[in-house]
Amino acid sequence: MHPETSVIRSGRSDQPDSLAPVLFPSTNYVTDSLEQTQTKACDLTEQRFYSRHSNPTVGAFEEAVAELEGAEAARAFSSGMGAISSVVLALCGSGDHVVVQQQLYGTTLLFFQWAKAQFKLELTLVDGTQPGAFAEAVQPGKTKLVFAETPSNPLVGLTDLSELGAIAGPVVVVDSTAAPPIIQRPLDWGADLSLHSATKSIAGHNDAMLGVVSGSKELLDWIRSYSVMLGANASAFDAMNGLRGLRTLAVRLARQSETAWFLARHLEQHPAIARVWFPWLESHPGHSLANQQMKLPGGILAFELKAPSLSPDLAQGQNGVPAKFMQNLKLAQLATSMGGPETLITHPFTTTHAGLLPEELEAMGIGENIFRVSVGLEHPGDLLADFNQALKLMQT
Ligand SMILES: Cc1ncc(COP(=O)(O)O)c(C=O)c1O
Repeated sequence: MHPETSVIRSGRSDQPDSLAPVLFPSTNYVTDSLEQTQTKACDLTEQRFYSRHSNPTVGAFEEAVAELEGAEAARAFSSGMGAISSVVLALCGSGDHVVVQQQLYGTTLLFFQWAKAQFKLELTLVDGTQPGAFAEAVQPGKTKLVFAETPSNPLVGLTDLSELGAIAGPVVVVDSTAAPPIIQRPLDWGADLSLHSATKSIAGHNDAMLGVVSGSKELLDWIRSYSVMLGANASAFDAMNGLRGLRTLAVRLARQSETAWFLARHLEQHPAIARVWFPWLESHPGHSLANQQMKLPGGILAFELKAPSLSPDLAQGQNGVPAKFMQNLKLAQLATSMGGPETLITHPFTTTHAGLLPEELEAMGIGENIFRVSVGLEHPGDLLADFNQALKLMQT
């Protein structure tokens, strides 16, 4: 089946006659005998025992994502960070070496830095956009985990999935949040685990905190056992919204990709904009890689304002260029997160990456006049008009 059909048909084996996802809010289930209790207690994939282990609604969501990813198994988590922290804590121990991409969602980088301080993880940061960087940093026999994020948040930088998939030895994890399985499937390229903050496009309506990881049953059983102890399981309610969102993933991504491509082309020509990052633009450093590994560009783009020509007042805070530009926008709303129906604009410098040191921000290329846009489902013409009027106000 094509993925457009899989999103509609998958995750229904437990409740085949219900068209809508079925919510099982129960935290625990009655068993017939001590023998049955023991069997269920020891099988962490049992969906009718205790919902920190597994749950029928969560199981349906996991089944659907596994099918879409072409994976043997999937595990849903309470958030993308719940997924990331569970994977790292399950697979790495004190003193292990991990190779991690420099261009990461801010809290993911903070998590790795915390793990370095707390568990003496040996951390090598690499520029994921540089060919061969990951493979060169791997220390055979010592590196336990390779962690990449492609496209990266917020500058949609691309890492070569075929290079990642060719790395033998460590477990290779790809955070593919900005490119759900309709766009790319890291496991097809040889990665061991594909990870998503399903809070974003997969659930897609800004109403569910969810993470999900797909891969081999063996790896997923191991990770599940840790996440059961950590309590990082997804709630049934969020999984229900995740599954409901998944049904429209293909049409939402097609529409968001088209609108984002339209906006990226126009914004790139705008005199007040210094630079636009979007995988389909020829000016994007990962443009040919995008053609190789992505079926659609996705709905995320970033741009940099030509600040000095826009305003002589470069003071920060409410008088700063970023704040003024945000205030001028009427349709695109100032909010974190991405992948929902509403177009959202974020200022990574003060939000998603605010916890990082100036030198880390510089290494990631995140300047004060850079904005990330999560393109929604509004009419493309209305969105362009909104950006144009906001940019015009900045020039007067
Ligand atoms: C690429 C990426 N990975 C992980 C996360 C964390 O996901 P969550 O907010 O669901 O914990 C985010 C959140 O923005 C993200 O953008």
